[in-house]
Amino acid sequence: MQSQNTIADLKKTNGQVIRCKAAIAWEPKKPLDVTEIEVQPPKAGEVRLKIFSNALCHTDIYTLDGHDPEGLFPCILGHEATGIVESIGEGVTSVEVGDIVIPCYTPECKERSCVFCSSEKTNLCPKIRATQGKGVMPDGTSRFSKDGKTIYHFMGCSSFSEYTVVAEISCAKINPTADVNKVCVLGCGIATGWGAATNNCKVEPNTSVVVFGLGAVGLAVVQAAKENGARYIVGVDIQRSKFELAKKLGCDECVNPLELKDQSVKDYLLSKEKWGYHYTFDCTGNVKVMRDALELAHRGYGESCVVGVAAAGQEIATRPFQLVTGRNWKGTAFGGWKSRTEVPQLVNKVLRGETTLDPYITHVIKGIDKVNESIDALHSGDCIRAVVVINERETVKAPQLSVYANMRSYGGYVKRLKHWSNTTQCEMSFSIYLPEPAKRGAPLPPVLYFLGGLTCTDENALIKSGFAQFAAKYGIAVVFPDTSPRGVDIEGQDDTFSFGSGAGFYVDATTDKWKKHYNMYSYVTKELPELVHSVFPVDGTKIGITGHSMGGHGALSLFFKNPGMYKSVSAFAPIANPTQTPWGQVAFNGYLGGVEAGKAYDATELVKSYEGPKVPILIDQGTGDKWYNDELKGETFAEACDQAKYPLEFRFQTGYDHGYFFVTTFLEDHFKWHAKQLGL
Ligand SMILES: NC(=O)c1ccc[n+]([C@@H]2O[C@H](COP(=O)([O-])OP(=O)(O)OC[C@H]3O[C@@H](n4cnc5c(N)ncnc54)[C@H](O)[C@@H]3O)[C@@H](O)[C@H]2O)c1
Ligand SMILES: [Zn+2]
Ligand SMILES: [Zn+2]
Repeated sequence: MQSQNTIADLKKTNGQVIRCKAAIAWEPKKPLDVTEIEVQPPKAGEVRLKIFSNALCHTDIYTLDGHDPEGLFPCILGHEATGIVESIGEGVTSVEVGDIVIPCYTPECKERSCVFCSSEKTNLCPKIRATQGKGVMPDGTSRFSKDGKTIYHFMGCSSFSEYTVVAEISCAKINPTADVNKVCVLGCGIATGWGAATNNCKVEPNTSVVVFGLGAVGLAVVQAAKENGARYIVGVDIQRSKFELAKKLGCDECVNPLELKDQSVKDYLLSKEKWGYHYTFDCTGNVKVMRDALELAHRGYGESCVVGVAAAGQEIATRPFQLVTGRNWKGTAFGGWKSRTEVPQLVNKVLRGETTLDPYITHVIKGIDKVNESIDALHSGDCIRAVVVINERETVKAPQLSVYANMRSYGGYVKRLKHWSNTTQCEMSFSIYLPEPAKRGAPLPPVLYFLGGLTCTDENALIKSGFAQFAAKYGIAVVFPDTSPRGVDIEGQDDTFSFGSGAGFYVDATTDKWKKHYNMYSYVTKELPELVHSVFPVDGTKIGITGHSMGGHGALSLFFKNPGMYKSVSAFAPIANPTQTPWGQVAFNGYLGGVEAGKAYDATELVKSYEGPKVPILIDQGTGDKWYNDELKGETFAEACDQAKYPLEFRFQTGYDHGYFFVTTFLEDHFKWHAKQLGL
């Protein structure tokens, strides 16, 4: 086993033929032969991968058992894998050496001229289909050989090998912090099940579902149907051993047709739902089951999806009356996912803690030498997925996020999360709003950071500002960070509302007492955006910042301290000159050991020497705000902007106080402002 995966190590073999181990299927129905092969360097438009792990899918076995009429031998099986890019061929631009990828048997060329890639309705890119089906690369030749004898590729992946060569358009580049020994299952089975219930059939809330076959694919259908809000889910399998997990993932009931006495499974299921089920899925590959599934679909509008792959020469049948009376028969390949675009998003969904792959991985087998054990495992009945670890990868620190609330709002989602922060050395909370994409494949939304004021958590602006209607309208994602570390034990942290808990002032503390935890500046400008931009579907190159009161101070000071980072900026009643006001002075004395050091975080001071892009600033300030004269001092900042010829629109709003009734009144103006600056 090798554990070196640095770029320099990977590059050592670039351009050379690699001799490595692979599992060859010489002929049907024989165990795989783990032996040394030669792997040629990638040609134009190709990528050579060093494989980390591969999970065995039923389709591999089906080919190995000789049921695939197009199955070519000798070949290297495997198509549920993760790997790292070892080298790239001429003209490859979408991945580079060191990228972590999932090779996908359904490619995505993304070309405008591809009628399939440019349609929202399908994922079936035909670009390399002809050669992939013939077991060769797009130029008609193979990159594998054994002692001069050509070995065929399989499904465009052939990942039961230490190294493989795939087309660039088959490489889904994923988040490098993902656990490669788990997310490999998104290369086929689990992604297929999730997509069958989400893309091909759009399982809706309050519907009934039947899933035939509770292997990895069927279980993934169950899990996704449950997540999509199905009311009643029945699982059917001839192995009772599958039922426990099926119930855990969402089945309300499981049935074994072999245990029903005088009744067919179809009659039994119809006795429960008179007119049939809204969605039915075949995940067995048995054509008789496919017929039952279709005939169990709801009269009038039920949909039945063929997921299983039937043996060679098999045909499906039903009476046309079944379709005339409104049942829809459909099928799926790879769950309808557009591979390069959407597989990375599925990986991120797992990283965000919104779903889990853990239940599927029942066996982990170390070393390609033991590859036949995975076949035995899959045949044994107690295996869902057996992952074979082919090359070990050093442990990579993943962001341990957990989503503890997920709510729809104005068509998008509000998600509330917790995660361990290295910067503040404690668990931090934040919330995010993701607007609904205009359509599949639409550009990702920019992100607005909304910083809270004194005493706030990530929740105040989230629930009081009424932001979601505007975020949805203008297509902007919004992140609400907390305002200080929480759950730490520092003497005096809770003595006053304007210092300590709920009052981190967006600085990196330097005094002994506070410096371990109170690093909200680095947290909000580095750790949090890195995390958010890597695991959420947002455009991390387009970010804006706003805030209220202490958060307004945060927005202005973070903007000036990071020229070019924020493309838009605004504030509500900001603490605009904190070195000259009591709250600011207490904070800077406490966190930084003196007011002088606070100048590095004071917007009025910072604007004087700022040399970055002059992004115009919008500030609203109520004239009825009781804190204005002593603590906020917007006019002092406005004067400094005048002197520095910095573009500022400072608006006094007559009679408004410091609270959220003031913020909500002018919030849409701020969203409009940010939308314009962010190029929407
Ligand atoms: N369409 C696609 O893109 C796609 C992708 C991946 C897998 N597949 C296919 O999906 C199917 C399922 O894959 P898997 O990896 O979950 O396989 P699996 O072997 O792990 O699971 C199949 C399950 O079906 C059950 N079963 C078999 N016959 C049955 C019957 N008559 N009635 C009820 N249950 C029965 C088995 O007991 C088993 O639990 C396979 O045919 C596979 O080739 C299709
Ligand atoms: Zn598969
Ligand atoms: Zn295409």
